[in-house]
Amino acid sequence: MSSRKTIVAPSILACDFSKLGAEVERVTSAGADWIHCDVMDGHLVDNISFGPAIVEATSRHTNLPLDVHLMIERPDIYVPRFAKVASSITCHVEAPHDISKTLQAIRDANCLAGLAVSPPTPLEMIRPYLGRFDILLVMTVNPGFGGQPFIPEMMEKVSTAVEWRDREGVDFHIEVDGGINVSTAETSIAAGANILVAGTSVFKASDAGAEIADLRFS
Ligand code: DX5
Ligand code: ZN
Repeated sequence: MSSRKTIVAPSILACDFSKLGAEVERVTSAGADWIHCDVMDGHLVDNISFGPAIVEATSRHTNLPLDVHLMIERPDIYVPRFAKVASSITCHVEAPHDISKTLQAIRDANCLAGLAVSPPTPLEMIRPYLGRFDILLVMTVNPGFGGQPFIPEMMEKVSTAVEWRDREGVDFHIEVDGGINVSTAETSIAAGANILVAGTSVFKASDAGAEIADLRFS
């Protein structure tokens, strides 16, 4: 069980984009800790979502930290455009870029640096970068779309990451993303995750405040 404080990060991918500002304000008042922004380029993943302009617009409707998840092939090129408003920026280990350089560029821009691993990718792929990132993002669905079912086998990656963190004496958050609801949040926290990304479960809840509280204490 992780002793870290649980951070709940609603993903705006599940919001009503026709009223983005009001949606961001709604989950901010409902008690969210961070706002998660899913950026997709149609290359690394099979969907296109939004870019820096929408992330900047989001920043104008909340004081919460913006957690930017770049599902794009060349995060190295785009980091400076998101760093203006982001608190954390996560790139994918599967993307064709110089990962150490990108992580350092994110830190140099005064953001927390995140490294994400998709379900088919072995956790071993992130091992060379231990100590170079502040957040490990374990994808619990195949990235690209909200509303997919949680893949429970990914919990092994979370537990292994906890072991590596203890053994190597490095420090990083462990974030889970995809299919997070009260039940899968409990499973994830038990495995060692402390940041919960939740799109559908928060934005489609009848009471977002109650949902966020339930996620936090699951
Ligand atoms: C998937 C995104 C997730 C997604 C989560 O590619 O990274 O952040 O929006 O959505 P839900 O909570 O609906 O699975
Ligand atoms: Zn995400």
